[in-house]
Parts: sequence; C-alpha cells; structure tokens
Amino acid sequence: MPTISLAIQKGGSGKTTTTINLAAALKQLGHSVLLIDLDPQANLSQALGLLEEVEPNIYNEFQKAASGAKSGLKAIITERSGLPLVPAALELAGAELELVSIYGREQLLSRMLKPLKNEYDFIFIDCPPAIGMLTVNALVASDYVMMPLQAEFLPLKGVKSFMRHFQQIKNTLNKKLNILGFVLTKYDQRKTMNRNVLDKLMEDYGDKVFKTRIRTNIALAQAQEQGVDIFSFSKSANGALDYMELAQEFLKRVETR
Ligand SMILES: Nc1ncnc2c1ncn2[C@@H]1O[C@H](COP(=O)(O)OP(=O)(O)OP(=O)(O)O)[C@@H](O)[C@H]1O
Ligand SMILES: [Mg+2]
Repeated sequence: MPTISLAIQKGGSGKTTTTINLAAALKQLGHSVLLIDLDPQANLSQALGLLEEVEPNIYNEFQKAASGAKSGLKAIITERSGLPLVPAALELAGAELELVSIYGREQLLSRMLKPLKNEYDFIFIDCPPAIGMLTVNALVASDYVMMPLQAEFLPLKGVKSFMRHFQQIKNTLNKKLNILGFVLTKYDQRKTMNRNVLDKLMEDYGDKVFKTRIRTNIALAQAQEQGVDIFSFSKSANGALDYMELAQEFLKRVETR
C-alpha cells in the first residue's frame, strides 16, 4: 500500500500538523495509517502525547539496519488518538552524519518499511525541514510526496529547489516516486499575499495543487499542544472540516495516479 512522505525543506510549513490530522481523518473514513516520525525534533511524537523518548524508535532501527541486522520496525499505538506511530529520537540528528559511510545508506528506510507495507492502507513519513540523508531515505521509501506550504513569498523559492531534488531522486534512486501535490496551510483568503501565492503556484504547478486549503485555525495548534489530533480535540473546528475535506481529495488523488 502507498507510502507518502510529507516533506519540504522550509520549517513550520505544516508538515507535522498535516501528517497527524490527515491520518486522523483517514482513520475516521475507515483507513489504517502508520506514522513514522523521521524528524529529530520529534514534534510528531510529542503531538501524539509521547513526551519522553521511548524504545523502539526509528533511530534504533536505522542503527540495526546500518549494521546489516534485520530490522523489526514496530509501531506504538498512541493513547489519545489511537494512531500507530514509530517515534523519533533526538539521536536521529546524528544519523545524518553516521549514515554517510554506510553502504546502501539511501535505501535503509525503504528496506525497514517493506515488511509493513501490507499491514496498513497508508504509511506517512513526517520529514525534517532539510534535504539531508533522512529526507532522501524517506523519498526513496515512498510512492508519493506531499508538500505542505504556507502561502508566503519565500516558500515559492524553496519549492523550485525542492522540485530539483525530487527530480534527481526520481531519476536515480526511486523511479516510482510521484508528486501527490502541494497543500496550502495557514491559508487566509483575506490576505492578498496568500491569494497571490496560490495564483502563482497554480500557474507553475496547476493540478499538482490540492483544491482543499487548510485555513489558519488556532484549534490545530491547541490540539497539537495537548497531544491529540483535531478530531479528538474539536470535531467542529475549521481545522477538522478542512482536514476531512483534504482526506477525501487525497483518496481521489491516490486512486487516479
Ligand atoms: N492551519 C493552521 N492554523 C494554525 N496554526 C497552524 C496551522 N498549521 C500548523 N500550525 C501551527 O504552526 C506551527 C508549525 O506547524 P508544523 O509543526 O506542522 O510545521 P512543520 O512543517 O512540521 O515544521 P518543521 O519544519 O519544524 O517540522 C505549529 O505550531 C502548528 O501548531
Ligand atoms: Mg514538523
């Protein structure tokens, strides 16, 4: 079943928020989603209520895989949202360097996920805000990449550079990788800048832009602080409505690609 990386090198663009809440919406629609926290900041793990570091985590598994041992990637079922998660660990920051000298370093995550692919409808990988060895591993392990973007001028520059990396990885390491789409987050229809960025994105990337836009909604940040997804926090919040709409569009896009 498809694996999707949520990636873009710009920080704070809504990758983690989209990972949790899109997964929670898909769960409501009857789909199973495994979450992988690949960011040393561990925001995804924390946002699902895991405040302390636990084992097994994704770093241990990278170490095992790098030493040639068989990895037995296991998820923890997070208490408050019921979403299965492979948590991050701070040492993951060191993995960028540690992996440099490992043979087959770009394929480690892909190999780790293989045995789990048939257990879930989707696997989501929440990437760190950089295009290093971890994000490369995520993209090599994925069928699709989804790029959350805040509708500001600056991210558009980052988009071009991200697309070059995407193309390089597709050409050399993972031919089956495809773009699922850009998702605008923290969107405010009243802001001229937001509308301009949307127009420019449509002009350059057309149907690669999700029609659903995630509005700015404080409840999304509050839910994250309390360690729950938006549906457990407030079913009627705009954030819940937007992520449910995104889930429906997501399912259509995955089917038709
Ligand atoms: N639609 C939204 N409305 C209001 N706040 C939001 C929205 N989406 C995300 N946020 C908040 O913005 C901040 C950044 O979002 P998030 O952590 O999802 O970004 P990120 O791309 O994962 O960041 P990083 O690159 O650091 O991993 C968080 O505090 C989050 O709660
Ligand atoms: Mg994040």
